Amino acid sequence: MKRTLSKLACGVAVCAIMTGAGVASAADSSVEVLHWWTSGGEASALNVLKEDLESNGVSWKDMPVAGGGGEQAMTVLRARVTAGNAPTAVQMLGFDIQDWAAEGALADLNSVAAKEGWDDVVPAALQRFAKHDGKWISAPVNVHSTNWVWANKKIFDELGIAQPASWDELVAALDKIKAAGYTAVAHGGQAWQDATIFDAVVMSVGGPDLYKKAFVDLDPAALGSDQMKEAFDRMATLRSYVDDNFSGRDWNLASAMVIEGKAGVQFMGDWAKGEFLKANLKPGEDFLCFRFPDTQGTVTFNSDQFAMFSIGEEGRDAQVKLASSIMAPSFQSAFNVVKGSVPARTDVSDEAFDACGKKGMKELAEANASGKLFGSMAHGHASPAAVKNSIYDVVTAHFNGEFDSAEAVEELVSAVEGAQ
Ligand code: GAL
Repeated sequence: MKRTLSKLACGVAVCAIMTGAGVASAADSSVEVLHWWTSGGEASALNVLKEDLESNGVSWKDMPVAGGGGEQAMTVLRARVTAGNAPTAVQMLGFDIQDWAAEGALADLNSVAAKEGWDDVVPAALQRFAKHDGKWISAPVNVHSTNWVWANKKIFDELGIAQPASWDELVAALDKIKAAGYTAVAHGGQAWQDATIFDAVVMSVGGPDLYKKAFVDLDPAALGSDQMKEAFDRMATLRSYVDDNFSGRDWNLASAMVIEGKAGVQFMGDWAKGEFLKANLKPGEDFLCFRFPDTQGTVTFNSDQFAMFSIGEEGRDAQVKLASSIMAPSFQSAFNVVKGSVPARTDVSDEAFDACGKKGMKELAEANASGKLFGSMAHGHASPAAVKNSIYDVVTAHFNGEFDSAEAVEELVSAVEGAQ
């Protein structure tokens, strides 16, 4: 046995020496990708990317860091860069991309972007994050949006619930679901999930005006307004519909509660659809997708992008191939159909998408045209990370009963001020 092993090892070594050139080029043609796509639906989508890239001769070194919303991934990234060991490519959101670009850490993708005409097909709302100082520094793979409700259709049908179109109708529906013995709202008590609901709730109370003034302009009057207090009141109302075990639950496990018919609804971005599809559920038949009541016509978006770290000429070719694969229209369709998001290009047909995807694409285009498209606060597209985290802290403390709504509003004003 021992002898067989050493013979094998020797075989590999000899092989490595004999094909020295081949080994070097194989090393050139690989990318290490840091990402947080570890749920079932996310992993299926990631596989579409991996396979596409491998078919272009680039091998994939996986660096997954679990944790929805990517906070843990960003912590690991910081540690890797500090240690002088940056990954080749990193899944990143909004202001984080800009922050890394400002540090001079990201590679310039302008030549591939120019060759492939990215300027003409990527919506301006995404270019705002994908370019820095006129240079493309990341490749956007999708557009997600956060103001969605995912509902179990069987429960809605059984209880005679119509799709709620207003806050009051939503509350009435949740009351019915709770009274029937189901968990009304499937939720995971993690700061980013609380904040994802807060995105929609703030929009539902004060529309684009409040949303923009509070989360983009960081206007203390909006942050401290009666409308913001009303938003916290709505959060407290929603808190009364979650189950006892919500604390710390991962978002995909909350999706599973709706999928399995244990809970009525989940308020979550459209990555949740990836979980429903993975479980072989069909939109319109098994589950419903609709906009958070009172936010119809507006879209709060985030866009997963892959930023390339400057790691010198050696890995350059593979980085460009990755960026080019990501931006290919056929890939954007194939990937986003599985992921639950919609393409990051305006020239991709909606033909392959299901009803929720078609609705998502149409509403994104309409919101963009009517000035009702806003970056998601919860997912790093409204304000920089320090501000986002300060909002997370207040929203989560309030959701867990540490502050009443009046205190939360005061805390929000001072937390956001302190974070700037
Ligand atoms: C978001 C990201 C999505 C999805 C989600 C949950 O921030 O944009 O792609 O991964 O987190 O992990």
